[in-house]
Formats: sequence, C-alpha cells, structure tokens
Amino acid sequence: MNTAFAPHNTYSVHDRTSTESIQVRQLQTIYGKDIPRFWFQQNPVLTCMLIGLSVSFPAGERYFIDSVRAFEEQVRDPALRQAIKAFVGQEANHTREHRKANNFFASCGFPIEAIETKIAARIRQIQNQSTAEENLARTAALEHFTAIMAKAFLDHPQTLETMHPTMARLWIWHAIEEQEHKSVAFDVYRTQVGDEDLRRRIMLEVSFFFILLNTLRTLTLLHESGQLFNLGAWGRSMDLLWGRVGVFRKTIPAYLAYFRRGFHPDQIPDSPAERALTQLGELVRSAKS
Ligand SMILES: [Fe+2]
Ligand SMILES: [Fe+2]
Repeated sequence: MNTAFAPHNTYSVHDRTSTESIQVRQLQTIYGKDIPRFWFQQNPVLTCMLIGLSVSFPAGERYFIDSVRAFEEQVRDPALRQAIKAFVGQEANHTREHRKANNFFASCGFPIEAIETKIAARIRQIQNQSTAEENLARTAALEHFTAIMAKAFLDHPQTLETMHPTMARLWIWHAIEEQEHKSVAFDVYRTQVGDEDLRRRIMLEVSFFFILLNTLRTLTLLHESGQLFNLGAWGRSMDLLWGRVGVFRKTIPAYLAYFRRGFHPDQIPDSPAERALTQLGELVRSAKS
C-alpha cells in the first residue's frame, strides 16, 4: 500500500475566535484487495451509507468550489481570500481522493457510475436554475451538514477505529479538513450576501433533499448488494447512529442552531482534532511500513 501525507500551506481564518488554521494536506491512497466489501464494522448499512456520501462528493464539492468562487473577486478581506484558496485546495483534494475510492467501490460491484451520473446532472440543473446567492446559501448549508457530521465522527474516534484502516484514513482526513474550513462558505455568504431569511429558507430545502437523497442512495446500494433486508445490520447501525451511542442523534442541537438568526458556525465548538490527527498519522505510518 502506498500512501503519502504531507501538510503544507497554512492559512489563518480571519475572524475565528481561536487560532484555527486551514491546512491543505495531501493524502494519496491506493485501495487494495485487502479491503472487505463492507469495510465499516462489516456492516452493509453503515458501509452503503458512507459509499452513498462518497459518490456525491466529486460533483458536490465541485459545486461548492464554483459557488464560493463566484464571489471570490468581490471579497476584500485578505485573510478570507486566503481562506477561500485553502478551502478550494482542500475540496479539490477531497474530490480527487473520493473519485479513487468510488472507482474502488465500483470494482466491488456497486452501481457507482449510474448514481454518479444522476447526481452530476441534478446538481448541474440546480446550479443553472439558481442565482449565485442561492448557490452560495446552499453551499453554506451543505457545509454545515458536512461539518456537523465530521464533528460527530471525530467526537467518536472509537467508531472510526472500526473501519478498515485504508477507509478510516480517508474519512478521518476528510473530517478534519471539513471541520477546519466549516466557516469559509458561510463567511463569504455573510459578507457578500448576508440575507438571513434566504440562508434559513435554503437550509430547510437542503435538509429535505439531503436526508431524502442520501437515504434513497443507501437503500439503492443495499438493494443492489442484496443486503436491504439485513435486519441485524439495520439494528446495529440505528443503535450506533441514533440509539445508545447516538453519533447522529447528538448532532441535532448543532443542526437546529443553523436556523437561529445571527448564527455562525464558530458558535459550535470543534471536536478536538489532536486525537484524530494522531490517529491519522499512525494510520499513514502503518500503511507505509
Ligand atoms: Fe470536502
Ligand atoms: Fe467542505
């Protein structure tokens, strides 16, 4: 297995309350035959849920980059301009790595191409039918979803340890960077558009489609792999995500906070990244040896 991990380009975000920074890290992973088909707790439901998300990233993150870049020229604050560059660098790397992961999922027999084509067409349609302001509001809302999901995983490092190490590297890396740049699209929206009603209305729309489409994608992948009625896997996943451990259940207050007037993503405390960075460093080192 050949994995490279080299941080460079550190930027400070202009009005974060702490000295948080956005680092563009290179993670290059080769997906080997040692990865089982259901690589998250050997659980088809959990695995298909994350595969469904991964399939949406190349077109989704391209959309985020385009939406933010549409306002880049108007941004005067030099620190925010730098943060945009780092945001674009991180998202472009995520797209590249998830494309590789998606190719691996396709090689395992999942219908990735069909799903990807559908998502890309749908996003293009939404992008063309919306104003630049709506696209940016949609990006800020989706970035809130990715940030709270990233925090949810980083807050439960023992859960990430139950993934195959190659996949754990990908998701920990992505989660760390989503948490780091969680305010960038939001700050561009706040400084360049600032319409609180539009921001909250778009979040309602995004919530409906994000939850619906991700659920349908998970069901399709489970159906295609003959695991749709694996009740044991459903029970264990629901318990992890919404039950006793409640990885997603615990994100509800942070999700709802977005609807408050005057909300800012920095009001949600970050998950301490040290443990995740150590976890990632160890996983990368063990892959090299
Ligand atoms: Fe990303
Ligand atoms: Fe992001």
